[in-house]
Amino acid sequence: MSVHTKSLKNNLILKIVNIFNDNNDKLILHERSHEVLKKLSVVDFVYEIIESNLLDKNFLKREWSIFDIPSLKIFENEKFDLKYNIFLPNKCHSTNNAGYMIHSHLSSVLSSYVFYGHGYHSIIFDRDVKYFNDNYAQLKIKRDFFHSKGDINIIDSYEPHLVFNVSEPTYTLVLWSDDKEDPNVSKSFFDKLINKKSSNTKTKLLRNFYVNENRIKSITDNDFMLFMNKVHNNSLIKNNYHVHAICYFIQSIGYTNFSFLEKICSDSNTPLIWKKWLDKLINKKSINYPVFKNESNFLNGSFTYDDIISIC
Ligand SMILES: [Fe+2]
Repeated sequence: MSVHTKSLKNNLILKIVNIFNDNNDKLILHERSHEVLKKLSVVDFVYEIIESNLLDKNFLKREWSIFDIPSLKIFENEKFDLKYNIFLPNKCHSTNNAGYMIHSHLSSVLSSYVFYGHGYHSIIFDRDVKYFNDNYAQLKIKRDFFHSKGDINIIDSYEPHLVFNVSEPTYTLVLWSDDKEDPNVSKSFFDKLINKKSSNTKTKLLRNFYVNENRIKSITDNDFMLFMNKVHNNSLIKNNYHVHAICYFIQSIGYTNFSFLEKICSDSNTPLIWKKWLDKLINKKSINYPVFKNESNFLNGSFTYDDIISIC
């Protein structure tokens, strides 16, 4: 948390801290935060966050897996956390293709604000998922919309959702809060879920969904990881993609404090992969965004908008 000391002092972060100190319904707290959230995307603030992340040794040493969206930490405490997420186009697929598997964030509530790029098409499904034998499931579309620049969208706890491939680099500011500390919200929902499923607590972990022979199938994080680990020969860590993506972000957002970058780059503790990409920034070499193989995010290959519309 030391890296966030600077941000913590910032009035904007303090405003959100104060909002979340109120014991109210999480959705209300999220809505109250939205005006402040927009202000966290002004460039001077983004530059401050870039620097606080690059000064954080844990951030520089982080091992990024293929499941991680490249991101920068803005702030976290026990009630919420704030991040910039970086969505990059996958050139192998169109914007009609899913960018990631359908998934829910379990008890977390998420606000997402698009502050750079067009945005992305998204579908949010009803939280009341019907499960069948062999982990087949039925999802019902709740919202089908384009999450465009300037919009803030809330994804409620347990709501499965789908993000389609972006047409151009798109950056979002995300606010996560967890309901687990709110006994009214989480217990009532868990009770309902568990009663319905005859105490099958595994159901709530079946939070990832994909298309299998024209049906929706669900899978736990654990089973998905095991499967992908096999497919990728135990090499789910892809640091180069993420460091490349973050340095692309730094350049595209117009950050030019090269003397600061030189300081980070010349530090003997800075990992080589960071030195490689920071060096390109320092030397003003134009960085193209990295292209990721979409299949890395999927169990069964990518699926399309039309697949989902015909099934759900
Ligand atoms: Fe998500």
